[in-house]
Formats: sequence, structure tokens, C-alpha cells
Amino acid sequence: MTQTIGIDIGGTGIKAAIVDVVSGEFIGEKIKVGTPAGAIPGDVARVCHELVEQLDPGGSLLVGVCFPAVIIDDVAFSASNVDESWVGLNVGDLLEATLGRRVHVVNDADAAGFAEYMFGAARGVQGLVLVTTLGTGIGSALIYNGVLVPNSELGHMTLPGRHNRTAEQLAANVVRERKRLSWSRWAEHLQVFYETLEMLFSPTLFVVGGGVSKEYENFLPLLTLRTPIIPAEHFNNAGILGAAALVPIER
Ligand code: BGC
Repeated sequence: MTQTIGIDIGGTGIKAAIVDVVSGEFIGEKIKVGTPAGAIPGDVARVCHELVEQLDPGGSLLVGVCFPAVIIDDVAFSASNVDESWVGLNVGDLLEATLGRRVHVVNDADAAGFAEYMFGAARGVQGLVLVTTLGTGIGSALIYNGVLVPNSELGHMTLPGRHNRTAEQLAANVVRERKRLSWSRWAEHLQVFYETLEMLFSPTLFVVGGGVSKEYENFLPLLTLRTPIIPAEHFNNAGILGAAALVPIER
């Protein structure tokens, strides 16, 4: 079956679409609703159920979900920008019980990164592709020769010379917005982040995702790196695409 439902659960919105996982295209429209206040698991699961039934009424398409947390075997092990009650929860079991369908769960940046490798800016690139998403948090995905190394969480890395602050605390896009940082001031933080990643991982390619990557011309040219650094292609659709594409075929 090449059609799978992808759902991207975020702190502000929940987006879903049917994805052709061979071509990486949406079948029909993407739908989006606001995340219920508090982002409590039961409320989020109910919204996912409504979205799935809207896309595939009474059907049995498999569902791939991405979520902003460390996810191991469908269980959440962190909660940076969502309610603490997700920690330790088997998100897959909760959603399977609510949706009545098979569900597979992955980290949101892993999903976005894998989508860029499969269908986007890093399509088919061999070696190490390091994808970062700059949004409310900073997410990361490592894809080596097409294999995803999950849960890298590089946005929580403490940056050198930055008073024990993490990349996410200094350089998330919400920090730029909240502090009204100029592009050049923000790029100074990004420079430290990416040069540290470059020193530690020597990637073949950096891909920069998240909604702000649409405005890449304002900040990517300000970075000095030996590694090529390019904007993502799928912006806010990458999570849906990757979540769907990562659903194991045998499930
Ligand atoms: C979370 C990651 C997530 C990233 C982007 C971070 O705060 O720890 O799991 O991928 O935000 O949403």
C-alpha cells in the first residue's frame, strides 16, 4: 500500500494529509487544526481521530505520526514544548486505541529530515546529511547513506562560549522573534551552532528546515562554513511526509 496518513503534532497546530509514500506527494488537501489548549494526550488523540476520519472516513490506512520528543518504540522520553504528561507514555498505543488503526510514532525532526532525504533538498545524498529544524525548538536529524540515526536532539547541545546556554535557547526561531533579533545577530548564534556541529560530525550536507527556512536568503548567506548548507524544500509539510514515509511496511 503506497498511501499512508501522516500527522505532525506540534505545540501550536496538528497537521495531517494522505501521503503517497513512493512519490512523496499529498493525495488531496492537507488539513490543520490548532493544538488543544494544554496539549494533554487525550485531547490531542481525539483531534488526531477527527483528522484521520476526515481524510479517510471509516477506512484503514496506516498512520505515521511525528511528535516533538525523543521517541523510542513509540514511547515518548522527553517533552520540551508539550505537556509533561507525555513523558513515559506509549503514544502509539494511545493513538491506536483512539484511532482504531495501526500507528507508528517518530520524532518530528527525524520525520522532517527523512522527508528531505527521500523527497526534498537532500534527495539521495550519500554520506552524512544533517538536517536541523529551526522553530519553537531546534530539532535535528542525522541520515547516513539513507539510514536515519534517530533521536539526535542536537538542539539541546550547549554552545561553546555562550554561558552554558543551548542552541535552542539561543537560536530557535521563536527566540529571534521574541527578542526581535536582527538577521545578522541571529546568524551569529547560528554560526556557533553550525560550526560546532561541523567540527563534531563533519557532515556532507546541512539542510535547514522549519518555517523560517523560507526566508533563508536573510541568514544562510551570512554563515561561513566549509560544509554546504541549503534550505529545506518541504518547510512545514516535511513532518507529515516523513512520518508517513517512516511507517514500517510490514506493519
Ligand atoms: C525537542 C525535539 C524536537 C525539536 C523540534 C526540541 O525541543 O527536544 O525532540 O525535535 O524541539 O520540535
